[in-house]
Amino acid sequence: MTGERQTFDDIALHDGKLTLRAPDTRDVPAIVRSCRDPLTQQWLPLPDPYDETHARGFVTQQADTTLREGRGIVRAIEWDGDFAGMIDLKKTDWRGMTTEIGYWVSPDHRGLGLAGKAARVLGDWAMLEQGMERVEIRSATGNIGSQRAALAAGYRQEGVLRSAGYTHGGRVDLVIFGKTRADL
Ligand SMILES: CC(C)(COP(=O)(O)OP(=O)(O)OC[C@H]1O[C@@H](n2cnc3c(N)ncnc32)[C@H](O)[C@@H]1OP(=O)(O)O)[C@@H](O)C(=O)NCCC(=O)NCCS
Repeated sequence: MTGERQTFDDIALHDGKLTLRAPDTRDVPAIVRSCRDPLTQQWLPLPDPYDETHARGFVTQQADTTLREGRGIVRAIEWDGDFAGMIDLKKTDWRGMTTEIGYWVSPDHRGLGLAGKAARVLGDWAMLEQGMERVEIRSATGNIGSQRAALAAGYRQEGVLRSAGYTHGGRVDLVIFGKTRADL
């Protein structure tokens, strides 16, 4: 069914110590550190080297355009008041009511299961409050931490998409995870 909505609400989401809020320029130094991190660079095809200009452009332009044009929404992950990573909805289809989650967690906040927690909050909000029918997460077959996060967020593994992604190291197969409104 096609809904009326064409953009996500620009709001903050809270769940205990976790907050998902709009990114801002105060986050730039932490974004630079996180996006230069080898694990982040291994799995995400970010600019390399990643510098302050990239982070500033991401926060002041890309995130805003993504929201305004209805492509998705970018939220900074905060844990107990500290910046801890980034999560977004992307490739949103307002006719099919589907969207996809992406995330990274700052190196100093890994190991707390924050990607899974954030994915549960953002994906469930997209379905319960924003009309989405299905949310996907795609992770490279070698990216076990990301796959564990998708499962922890309540997503079901549905299959493998061959050569569907790319990293600095080359093309990768992607494990696809899905959650539908009926799963909630
Ligand atoms: C993927 C990522 C977001 C997960 O961060 P996180 O939420 O802090 O995840 P955790 O470190 O708490 O790990 C979650 C689970 O995966 C497991 N895990 C993490 N890294 C792993 C690895 N390399 N091998 C096996 N298991 C791993 C943890 O033991 C934990 O297991 P559990 O579910 O049994 O508790 C983070 O590693 C990251 O930012 N990676 C780089 C960017 C990236 O890959 N983004 C996703 C692209 S699809």
